[in-house]
Amino acid sequence: MPFMIATTTRFVAAGALICCSLLACKKDATTSGSSSTETYPSVAATFAGRINLANLDNYAGQTVPAYISKNNAPGFAISNAKATLGRVLFYDKQLSIDNSISCGSCHQQSLAFSDTFMASKGVENGRTARHSMRLINVRFGNEAKFFWDERAANLEAQTTQPIKDHAEMGFSGSSGRPAFSSLISKLQALAYYQELFKFVYGDATVSEMRIQEALSHFIRSIQSFDSKYDAGRSQVPNDAQPFPNFTALENQGKQLFLQPPVFNPNGVRTAGGAGCQGCHAAPEFDIDPNSRNNGVIGKIGGGNDVAVTRSPSLRDVVKADGTANGPFMHIGLSNQLMTVIDHYNSINTAGNNNLDPRLMPGGQPQQLQLTANEKNALVAFIRTLGGNDVYTNARWSSPF
Ligand code: HEC
Ligand code: HEC
Repeated sequence: MPFMIATTTRFVAAGALICCSLLACKKDATTSGSSSTETYPSVAATFAGRINLANLDNYAGQTVPAYISKNNAPGFAISNAKATLGRVLFYDKQLSIDNSISCGSCHQQSLAFSDTFMASKGVENGRTARHSMRLINVRFGNEAKFFWDERAANLEAQTTQPIKDHAEMGFSGSSGRPAFSSLISKLQALAYYQELFKFVYGDATVSEMRIQEALSHFIRSIQSFDSKYDAGRSQVPNDAQPFPNFTALENQGKQLFLQPPVFNPNGVRTAGGAGCQGCHAAPEFDIDPNSRNNGVIGKIGGGNDVAVTRSPSLRDVVKADGTANGPFMHIGLSNQLMTVIDHYNSINTAGNNNLDPRLMPGGQPQQLQLTANEKNALVAFIRTLGGNDVYTNARWSSPF
């Protein structure tokens, strides 16, 4: 037995060395391949010191505030090793057919893991059908399904869809493009994946399940809880209390966000708040799983898209300084929060057979009749949801 293990190890090491030298030549011709003579496993997967397998980044032991209770992946325990592999996969352009696009191309850390385009750019000038989604606090919510239209049953199922998408990363197996199985072989041949998969799983086998698992560990580790909102929320027993660190306008906006509107029989608000809490409930600001369409039914390229019933958490929809992390809603409606408030202020039902009943009180499209001051207060409050650390922390940055 010991002999067999030694043989296996040597075989993997030899494979890794061959690939390493190819990699070294391709990546940095000036080193004339000298690094390939170093011993496995220190050669391939250090990523110029950005990853240290002997001292992994802390994904598993991050602090989550006591007031955060929603969790769409109960029992899931983040592993530092799997999240580290997920980080490499997330930023690796080799996951696309022409090595031009990674997950991180459309989900940029500096933009709360979204991008500034209405429709993102994929391989060979492909364009996505909807705007990219932020990946902040994805596990802290009640809704377990993913994508704007919730077509992925869970995060694991979601993660390999973009790789197989013809317009995004291209391993579609259609119109002459390679299938997902080609990606498996491609990754299997890369030295750093031989090393990393072996490090995480005990053997170097690359599989769709392992890719999904590693990406899910990385994505579920992305959390943001250092906003002005959090600083206030941690000082009071519940959301309804005025936050001592908030301005009067921010506290007013918070109340408008939290309180349901009171409507007359014509759908016109006569008292109460703006009712945002009904679908984006604090303190996670995740989407209500029962939410239906919110009345934004446009479609990039024309037509109607009434299937959208999910939103990313409203945390970090804008940064702490108020600048947008890309345009809002599935069509990239606008990067001005005031446009969003104006949308909810006066709902249009035309062409929509999936509008949430909450936006149609008594069968009439809601008219919030918010004053200019109330609109400003809502915008001021939503700005308090922007964090800081998540935009720059190295553990979520590209290792390449
Ligand atoms: C070409 C741009 C592009 C690339 C590349 C891309 N995404 Fe996305 N991503 C999007 C768009 C656009 C959506 C929304 C699509 C929809 O709902 O129809 C999205 C949605 C998601 C969601 C759903 C978030 C939610 O809250 O429901 C996750 C998770 C995600 N992407 C992860 C990934 C991962 C992992 C990769 C790499 C394997 C990746 N993405 C590659 C553009 C991209
Ligand atoms: C009936 C449920 C519902 C209510 C009530 C509601 N929303 Fe939404 N919200 C949604 C859905 C669904 C989406 C995703 C819609 C889309 O992209 O087409 C969304 C999207 C958003 C977005 C864009 C998020 C992003 O990632 O681009 C913002 C901002 C927002 N809502 C703010 C508010 C505010 C402020 C209020 C209160 C005035 C509110 N919402 C009330 C369901 C609701």
